[in-house]
Amino acid sequence: MTMKKNSAGVLGTGFYVPEKILSNFDLEKMVDTNDAWIIERTGIKERRIAEKDVPMSELAFHAAQMALDDAGVLAGDLDLIIVATLTSDRIIPSTACILQDRLGAKHAAAFDLVAACSGFVYASSIATQFIENDVYKKILVIGAETLSKYIDWEDRNTCILFGDGAGAAVFGKVDDGYGVLSFDLGSDGSGGDALDIPSSGSLYPVTEETIAKKMNCIHMKGKEVFKFAVKAMGATVLCSLERAGLKKEEIDCLVPHQANIRIIQSAAKRLDLPMEKVVVNIHKYGNVSAASIPIALAEAARAKRFKKGDIVALSGFGAGLTWASCIMKWAKED
Ligand code: ACO
Repeated sequence: MTMKKNSAGVLGTGFYVPEKILSNFDLEKMVDTNDAWIIERTGIKERRIAEKDVPMSELAFHAAQMALDDAGVLAGDLDLIIVATLTSDRIIPSTACILQDRLGAKHAAAFDLVAACSGFVYASSIATQFIENDVYKKILVIGAETLSKYIDWEDRNTCILFGDGAGAAVFGKVDDGYGVLSFDLGSDGSGGDALDIPSSGSLYPVTEETIAKKMNCIHMKGKEVFKFAVKAMGATVLCSLERAGLKKEEIDCLVPHQANIRIIQSAAKRLDLPMEKVVVNIHKYGNVSAASIPIALAEAARAKRFKKGDIVALSGFGAGLTWASCIMKWAKED
């Protein structure tokens, strides 16, 4: 086993959501659905939608600035920027490079990472390695999405679920024994078809035909994803807990991916956690994929739900299929 040189943890968090709200009542006018069904089956009341001319990097930029301020870190001191997303502005340049320039992070390397809704935790695990091994000192990790641009607004199975937003965290060296204690990352590519955007790359380049067939929109086998998620969310946290040498009773707060309140409740049950210990904001934002966990983390930090030394678990699942969790001993003073 290798000895780590530093403990790595969150120095500051930030988030940003577009102002425009799309409520369940608005959706009732667009597809055959209703507020009561959406709340009962998903827990979502409204979601935020970026204006047509607003790219994902705009949301990410504001979240990043808030996280840098909160951490007291200057953009010029960043060594690396990782953007977890499935809705980058363009395939090239990466959105991380766009932000490197816009933030003035002159010394930072930058790349995007695709692991769908698990992306922020995947990216956080990478940041942790670099800091633990003394390669980099300050890393900005962002999860940001404009999923509204990939929605078929006539498909009631998907259009009720997703929203836009961005969350960010600055990682750096923290007191010994604090910060990220363990993580678990996983994938099962055999489930790739359960959640995909068929015409989004080299397999089916976007053409008039693929657009006419709505192949450029999110396609989802909801029940399959649901079944997978219910198992994965709790199991991955148990795995991370074991790696950290902790028991489920020791979790002070769970920050889960916000895809469906029923999935969150079943994960909480599996971990014997009362819902008071679980961060939930799905009613306000819906599923914001890679942005869900960092937005929830930033909101919870602002609501003072963590004190230094608390055991905080992050847990996500998503397209790929992928899953990821991490256990942190919260390192930041109030
Ligand atoms: N409004 C009203 N009725 C609806 C709607 C709607 N928006 N959508 C479906 N229905 C109907 C169905 O047609 C069906 O009717 P039927 O019985 O007459 O056929 C009935 O409601 C029940 O539909 P189900 O699909 O069985 O509903 P379910 O309880 O499975 O809920 C849901 C559907 C919410 C999509 C659920 O399966 C789910 O949350 N799955 C997981 C999705 C998820 O987490 N995706 C994101 C992954 S993260 C990422 O990587 C982006």
